[in-house]
Amino acid sequence: MSAVSPRVSSRLPVFPWDRLEPYKATAAAHPDGIVDLSIGTPVDPVPELIRRALAGAADSPGYPTVWGTAELRDALTGWVERRLGARGVTHRNVLPVVGSKELVAWLPTQLGLGAGDRVAFPRLAYPTYEVGARLCGAEPVPYTDPTELDPAGLKLLWLNSPSNPTGAVLPAAELARIVAWARAHDVLVFSDECYLELGWEAEPVSVLHPDVCGGTHEGVVAVHSLSKRSNLAGYRAAFLAGDAEVLGELLAVRKHGGMMTPAPVQAATVAALGDDTHVREQRERYTARRTALRTALEAHGFRIDHSEASLYLWSTRDEPCWDTVAHLAALGILVAPGDFYGEAGARHVRVALTATDERIEAAVKRLA
Ligand SMILES: Cc1ncc(COP(=O)(O)O)c(C=O)c1O
Repeated sequence: MSAVSPRVSSRLPVFPWDRLEPYKATAAAHPDGIVDLSIGTPVDPVPELIRRALAGAADSPGYPTVWGTAELRDALTGWVERRLGARGVTHRNVLPVVGSKELVAWLPTQLGLGAGDRVAFPRLAYPTYEVGARLCGAEPVPYTDPTELDPAGLKLLWLNSPSNPTGAVLPAAELARIVAWARAHDVLVFSDECYLELGWEAEPVSVLHPDVCGGTHEGVVAVHSLSKRSNLAGYRAAFLAGDAEVLGELLAVRKHGGMMTPAPVQAATVAALGDDTHVREQRERYTARRTALRTALEAHGFRIDHSEASLYLWSTRDEPCWDTVAHLAALGILVAPGDFYGEAGARHVRVALTATDERIEAAVKRLA
């Protein structure tokens, strides 16, 4: 008998990206090379002031703390008040995490959820919400409108605005309605806001804005990541802000688990959150790429749905998504099939804006 049985991995879905490999090979055979628009991974440089801060903290021989330095907590509370419009944010209302993916995957476990509990997330969603439910043995529950869910056993409700993969944005009134419902039923709300800085035709609002949460953080936590806004996916820099009691519990658990953000990354995060210029410059790059790709896709016969924000164009030719993936792979362009994000995406593909200007221009030429 093997010493390792797949007791945990067998609870998880098949890793979907493996299914894209043959199409990647087709796209890579294009004489001018692949244009890979499948994964939303930043390609532009890490801004100089952030690199300087990282390097300046390179001499960090001691253990960092899970709660972060006082400077980091000041930077987090300051940003949350300034950028999200939240009020009354103290150090107890913030907690650094090691990139947001680990948090999404392990949050239900760290909250002590398990068999008999339910974790809800959007019907079309980033797959890690479901993974998190499965890791702890809770029941994953996809929703269209969370307020239509049966609240029995529902312990955690994920929101994601702007959405991956659709780019849809929930207006403040809609967020407020959902938060009120969740509070009335004692359901904890975690709002994944990692694309909040990337609104194009809509202004994304945080759950921590007083128009949504009514000025108290009770039962709500926002999840923020620097991966997209500051090209820091390689640094693993993210944080939580909201309900102090929930964050205090997570801090206690995560301290025992050693979930520490490296000290140089903490210093880099302070620099990144103190600067808006690089965020504006990065937005300008994505705006130009988005306009070029959108125009080319529409001229090629695509319809773009939602996509008011985020790093994606949620695109369809009104055919099964794998046919679209094959069609674009033959042109040397790789995109993500919509069914990676739920059955409701079976007729869409997700086209990422995260490629260099040169590669986006190549895609535009191929679509002409
Ligand atoms: C909706 C959503 N949440 C969380 C993440 C994880 O981001 P990170 O782990 O880089 O903070 C992603 C990454 O693509 C995402 O799309």
